Amino acid sequence: MIVALNESKVAETENLVRRVFPWQNPLERMFYWAWRRRRQSAVRLLLRLVGISAIDDTWVYLNDSGKVCGTIGLYARTEDESEARWVSWFCVDPETRGQGIGKSLLTHLIGVARSRGYKYLRLYTGSDPDEAAAQLLYESRGLRETRRKPFLFAPYDKIWRELELDAEDGSELTDCESKYGLNTKTDVSSYSAQGED
Ligand SMILES: CC(C)(COP(=O)(O)OP(=O)(O)OC[C@H]1O[C@@H](n2cnc3c(N)ncnc32)[C@H](O)[C@@H]1OP(=O)(O)O)[C@@H](O)C(=O)NCCC(=O)NCCS
Repeated sequence: MIVALNESKVAETENLVRRVFPWQNPLERMFYWAWRRRRQSAVRLLLRLVGISAIDDTWVYLNDSGKVCGTIGLYARTEDESEARWVSWFCVDPETRGQGIGKSLLTHLIGVARSRGYKYLRLYTGSDPDEAAAQLLYESRGLRETRRKPFLFAPYDKIWRELELDAEDGSELTDCESKYGLNTKTDVSSYSAQGED
């Protein structure tokens, strides 16, 4: 089940992200610190200074035992906040990959971004082979590459991707349910009050 992240799951989610992405720049490392304090005005100001105008919702995929198996989220950048939202940490626990969880999280996110009226969903990613599956998934969901340049301190490229949300998009949640037998129902109650935990 996909639910909005709340305080009870944030440490577990942060651990998953740290395991999947051991190399993070200082700003990326601050994400969960900032997430916990995202409504404090001082933190909002600090985020703005580094080009982030809002940390919106984050979602997690919980298995039947309530374990966090994957996560995805939305945030806004000052440069394009009126028209776009960006994908924050997106990953699935290596033990539960290949079951449709990543696809259902991304499909969920696209649906939310579209329903909130944004024109674009954007993200940056890398050509690191560890992220190769993500590139296929992004391509299949229409997130086309818009720019790429070499990372300063890694032998990979940084890749920017974008999806224009105006076009009609058929939800693939039903596909995930039938193909993988996943419970992709979203606990609407936990995210309908946007910004409330
Ligand atoms: C990308 C990721 C989230 C996908 O999660 P997942 O739950 O395994 O993905 P799904 O089972 O929903 O599969 C979705 C698609 O990913 C691709 N994929 C999944 N496993 C793959 C594998 N082992 N090899 C190649 N492609 C793969 C396929 O395109 C698949 O679509 P298909 O089933 O229609 O063929 C996961 O691999 C991950 O966490 N990777 C490391 C972190 C990362 O790269 N995050 C994004 C960085 S910006």
